[in-house]
Amino acid sequence: MKYVFNTENYHRFDMIQDNVLPSRSYFIPYGSRERMEGIATPEKRYRSDKVEVLNGEWDFRFFREPKELPAVFDTDDTAFDRVRVPSCWQFTGYLKPFYLNSRYQFPFRPPVIPTVEKVGRIFFTMGADAGLGLHRVTPEDEYNSVGVYRRFIHIADASKRTIISFLGAAACIEVYLNGSYVGYSEGSHNTCEFDLTPFITEGANELVCAVRRWCTGSYLECQDMFRNNGIFRDVLLFICEKTDIFDISFKTIYSNGRYRAEIGLKGFGEASCRIALKGPGVEKDAELAICGERFNYAGFGDIEPTEWNAEYPVLYELLLETASCAVVIKVGFRRVSIEGNLFKLNGRLLKLKGVNHHDATPAAGYTMTAEEIVRDVEICKEYNIDTIRTSHYPPDPLLTELADEKGIYIIDEADIETHGAQSMTFPPDFSRISKDIRWAAHFVKRAEQMYERDKNHPSVIMWSLGNESGGYACQDEMAAFLKSRSELPLHYEGAVHSKKIAYDVASQMYPPASDLHRIAEGTHKQRAFLDRPYFLCEYAHAMGLGPGDVESYWKEIYAYDNLMGGCVWEMNDHAVLHEDGSYTYGGDHGEYMHDGNFCVDGLFFPDRRPSSGAKYVRFVYRPIRVRHCGEDRFEIFNTTAFSDGDRYLLRFSSGGKLFCEEAYPVLPLSKKTFSVALPEYDGEGDRFIDIETVDTVTGRTVSVEQLILNESFRKIDGLKIKALPEDFSVDGQGRILYGNLASAQEDTLLYRAATDNDALIMGMIPQALHVQRFYRTKEKLVSIDRKSESVEVRKEISCGKLRFEETTAYIGTEEGVLVRCVLRPVKGKALLPRYGKAFRLDKAFDRVSYCGRSSESYADMKEHAPIAHVNCHVSDMTEPYIRPQESGNRSDTRFAAISNGSETYIFEAVGRAFELGIKPYSDRELIPMRHMKDVICSGTYAAVSMFQAGIGSGSCGPIAGDAYQYPMNQDYSFSFLIRKE
Ligand code: GAL
Repeated sequence: MKYVFNTENYHRFDMIQDNVLPSRSYFIPYGSRERMEGIATPEKRYRSDKVEVLNGEWDFRFFREPKELPAVFDTDDTAFDRVRVPSCWQFTGYLKPFYLNSRYQFPFRPPVIPTVEKVGRIFFTMGADAGLGLHRVTPEDEYNSVGVYRRFIHIADASKRTIISFLGAAACIEVYLNGSYVGYSEGSHNTCEFDLTPFITEGANELVCAVRRWCTGSYLECQDMFRNNGIFRDVLLFICEKTDIFDISFKTIYSNGRYRAEIGLKGFGEASCRIALKGPGVEKDAELAICGERFNYAGFGDIEPTEWNAEYPVLYELLLETASCAVVIKVGFRRVSIEGNLFKLNGRLLKLKGVNHHDATPAAGYTMTAEEIVRDVEICKEYNIDTIRTSHYPPDPLLTELADEKGIYIIDEADIETHGAQSMTFPPDFSRISKDIRWAAHFVKRAEQMYERDKNHPSVIMWSLGNESGGYACQDEMAAFLKSRSELPLHYEGAVHSKKIAYDVASQMYPPASDLHRIAEGTHKQRAFLDRPYFLCEYAHAMGLGPGDVESYWKEIYAYDNLMGGCVWEMNDHAVLHEDGSYTYGGDHGEYMHDGNFCVDGLFFPDRRPSSGAKYVRFVYRPIRVRHCGEDRFEIFNTTAFSDGDRYLLRFSSGGKLFCEEAYPVLPLSKKTFSVALPEYDGEGDRFIDIETVDTVTGRTVSVEQLILNESFRKIDGLKIKALPEDFSVDGQGRILYGNLASAQEDTLLYRAATDNDALIMGMIPQALHVQRFYRTKEKLVSIDRKSESVEVRKEISCGKLRFEETTAYIGTEEGVLVRCVLRPVKGKALLPRYGKAFRLDKAFDRVSYCGRSSESYADMKEHAPIAHVNCHVSDMTEPYIRPQESGNRSDTRFAAISNGSETYIFEAVGRAFELGIKPYSDRELIPMRHMKDVICSGTYAAVSMFQAGIGSGSCGPIAGDAYQYPMNQDYSFSFLIRKE
């Protein structure tokens, strides 16, 4: 069959959609009530007798250069490939993956996009690949490629309305059937639907879709992510009767403790619909005449339902039955309100413990299976995460359905970001698109698509006008549209950079916790932060190791009612998984511009294994917090909004012995003190209380909290001096040799191999490379003073202009060789990344036994890992960050033993705990590693450190606070013992 593809739509500024059905709520109809019984939500789409999911192998022809696309495209004369739908071109081999943060892939000349010519010369001012500056790049062989999809659909009865629904296609889709043009749509992550009825015939029908790499709408899709293309979400075919339901609106009106439910229905024609609303305490039914394209309403008044919230996600079934269809949607009753500067749900304050979530997987890009969506939602519940900001576009509708069911608050974000307006103009003009009212229709359409699709979900508690698009003329139009339809508050962080400052809630990204304090105290100079609720739409940048210091935000959030909480950036790492199990990130695919590993910034690895950041955030987000207030008194803080404290069973143990199991009645968001009978304690030694908190509703352990009531360490005074061991020596460089244990090449460590969070904003600000500057550390021996029972080594350490003196004494004692270290800053000002001593053993020493934090931990992210005895291997002591970096530290270590099975070297803390690092490579060897394949095993390296600076969020936010920094304004000294057994 022959097709003449439209060559205008995708680059015509006034063309957003053509012949697309009005946006409507997402639901799956069935032929009858009986047919849908027992079908779980993730299955619903795939099991309906009225919906055919068109997933599977489609014919596909890719035109890298659009001019190769024939003027008349003859499907009978085309050699098609086969490709799976849904999928992305970049993950099926047609284009290479392409990661960009804030830039467009094409020159910034809105609304002009490349058509048939090469992409052309691109100007930009920032990027991880180039740094800050005025840059230009001319891609060689890059075009606005086109993908043509073809498949046949079988139509049994051509008299029925046939609607095709694309849940996601990037960047735009043009639909043809049986040789005729059907329509066109933009807005990648929004649903678009076409009525195929006028074009169908009985039997086989040829469906052809043309998808372009870019369209005008691409100017609104400059999100920080892999830029993918294709029909990437499910394609549904609805076979509808005249008496089927077209759209559903479920609204609730609250007054004086009672609700009224208003149900609006649109149909394909006239029909009579039986409506039933059922659930705890409610059983209502009614008949409603549907009249077609307009909403007709039925209402149920005087309802006293159980309200929905994320802790008790009580849903009601709205069953709609007509002569030809049955639909069930799950609905909920909830009230979102803003009272002054307080954000309330159902009249109560709440704290949003959130993450940002992208629909993305490492093997398929934007395409997520139902199982993967279920998994992400379940992970959130398991990690005490109760809020998802759907950064930066509406998610697959299944995610929102699951959020209703499982209990997750959703901040639903429109598919809008124009970040390149900032990074590709000079001087930067972030608002270049948003302030241009000619774009308003494009913005509003995206708000409408989001609103109409998701309007009935109780989980949606705010609409977000998009991300990083400057302000605000076009956003104002979106806001007006949303206000005309919905009572939900509006969120848009980008307003903060304009005179507008905020919509209904004030929102910021990555401020330091001290800002929150000033906002809450009313001393912040920005009034719009004070007179309305304040939200952190992004904070705690989880790139690589981290984020650290998250607790400092929660200290403020819990202390002040106007602080709503926030969403960590972000839930999952983005990287591309290859068949050999390796991962790649920006720049690994020959991208002509890229932002490196800035996409690898999640709490979870790409395959959703938790990193320590996830474990730490899970701890910070715990529902119940316990504090020891002296003697047998404990304060229990219930951080939830809707659960009584006695929902949680607290299991107290000490030294592994359970001594108390109790649930405490504490009201939501309040604290109460209780007595807990503690086991006997002789006043000596470590005294830890471990509290496992179990949610009795889900049966899940939500946290394990360790309270340190007393700590004790071997004291230096108690050590008995004796001669140094015979096999202990110090060479002419001041390095030790003790049997098989030797000082590492770099005996004193002031640096660590920088974590991602050690570089402020992708390393683009050179003076922010505060950790990397210590790579240049040089040691100069000053003296070695040898006595029979000790050797004292004095060194001068320099690092550029920074100067230090260090004295290390090795003293023989009956308990082992005592190492006493003193570091004295002499000149310069800097924050020290670490102070430690490094040792080396050969790799046969691969067994580790230690007492310290039970997993990876740093000063500002350690409470998730209680202090315990751990036996493991050297390979368990580092973490597989996609870009290798410092990892695996164990804070608060008491002792560590490294053994090859027959010989063991023990490091024991004296006076205070140390930070333990054990790696199969040296810190110096770690510095240049870029991918896991670079990892080597050249020995066993142990670092015993007095401190390591906190991890913080410096890759896109503040570095760790002062409490976790070690400035050069004081001497640092610590001691430990080394023994051989
Ligand atoms: C924000 C942005 C996110 C992401 C993040 C850094 O500015 O909204 O999309 O780029 O920074 O990872």
